[in-house]
Amino acid sequence: MAEASPRSPVSPSASDSSKSASAPPDSHRISQTSLLFWHTRNNDVKNVERLLQDNLSLVSAHDYDNRTALHVAAFFNRIEVAELLLRYKAPVNATDRWGNSPLADAESEGHGEMADLLKKYGGRVMGSHGSRLEPKDVAPPVPQRCDWEIDPNEIDFQKSTIIGKGSFGEIRKTVWRGTSVAVKTILPSLSDDKLIVEDFKHEVELLVKLRHPNIVQFLGAVTIRKPLMLVTEYLKMGDLHQYMKNKGPLPAIKAVDFALDIARGMTFLHTGPNVIIHRDLKPRNVLLVDERHLKVGDFGLSKLITVKNLHEVYKLTGETGSYRYMAPEVFRHRAYDTKVDVFSFGMILYEMLEGIPPFQGIEPYEAARAVSTGERPEITARTCTPALKHIIKLCWHKDKDQRPTFAKILEILEPIRNELDSQHEPHFPFFHHSPKSVHGL
Ligand SMILES: Nc1ncnc2c1ncn2[C@@H]1O[C@H](COP(=O)(O)OP(=O)(O)OP(=O)(O)O)[C@@H](O)[C@H]1O
Ligand SMILES: [Mg+2]
Repeated sequence: MAEASPRSPVSPSASDSSKSASAPPDSHRISQTSLLFWHTRNNDVKNVERLLQDNLSLVSAHDYDNRTALHVAAFFNRIEVAELLLRYKAPVNATDRWGNSPLADAESEGHGEMADLLKKYGGRVMGSHGSRLEPKDVAPPVPQRCDWEIDPNEIDFQKSTIIGKGSFGEIRKTVWRGTSVAVKTILPSLSDDKLIVEDFKHEVELLVKLRHPNIVQFLGAVTIRKPLMLVTEYLKMGDLHQYMKNKGPLPAIKAVDFALDIARGMTFLHTGPNVIIHRDLKPRNVLLVDERHLKVGDFGLSKLITVKNLHEVYKLTGETGSYRYMAPEVFRHRAYDTKVDVFSFGMILYEMLEGIPPFQGIEPYEAARAVSTGERPEITARTCTPALKHIIKLCWHKDKDQRPTFAKILEILEPIRNELDSQHEPHFPFFHHSPKSVHGL
């Protein structure tokens, strides 16, 4: 089902869109409302008209957020489609689940011509327009069959062990179809909310398609039955938080290698067609593949918790660790974008070099408050070269637009890595060690 909620960041799927904009392969199984929204979003007047001619009642159809095609047209300034919808008697003052009318959407997005058109048809401003923190694009229509749905009976809970507890609930190591997996059970307080369940399914649809060597592979989910569960690959080496706790400050070259892996995973997540903002990037959500490689996990989930009730959820679950890495705009409930993750990345790079978390000794919530008032941890590590110091400071810049993208971070870090490598000892151990250490005798 297409949705146009302000709960989540932009997540169009252009690769699907090119196919589905004209003739979706599975159109017989795709919801007509999703198709209408999608063609509206693409300003595809011809296909919108075709759908309306087939089924006139679609003009007032809404998604689970109660948004109509006219909301979509108003939000994305699709004038031609809006004119068509209004000619087909689209309800001009329909309100979505946040109480917003199409005119409220048009005005909040600054679409003057659209606002005039809607007013001509009797449109009124209704709702809390202007409050959109996380505008979301219309998702491409998808067949209603879920090939990622996992039958909970296939998960072996007899042999499972709890490996942690986070803001969504418990996580267990267990076996699914003979493979070690991590299963995250979503707390009833979240999974009892019908809207969250819908958002959850929508996110799963997106997450399951993602593949990259530096992101934790998502395998599927249980959504047909409570409790909801997310199933991902299991990484037996544990997380970066534990690793740093054991190792203390990392040598610069190792910190940069790790940082590069995080940045690669994040570049993938931040680059279209599906833009995924992590919003909870922290050492516990970065997992070790081996001694040299990392994967980013738990991306795409934080959007199930709106920024507005973020503090409540953290209070409820007792999971407050995310605050320490939180960008000031998230802490202060301001509009945010992909740069929140760059901020957190800066904090993680700091921690890898310093060997201590940012603002150690201060409660996570207080640390986030300090950050929001402009404070930053002091960089003292000798291993932190001026170039690394510069990049950390750029990443945690208070103005999010001054922070680099992850693609830029990669560009900056690669030469730093090469420079460190040239200062580093050669890789052949027998040049530097005695035969005894080489052969372990
Ligand atoms: N795929 C996985 N493989 C191995 N261990 C994992 C995996 N996912 C999570 N873990 C471990 O389980 C712990 C708890 O994870 P969980 O995501 O539930 O909580 P968190 O990361 O502390 O907080 P948040 O809910 O904000 O992500 C992690 O710190 C990590 O050590
Ligand atoms: Mg986690």
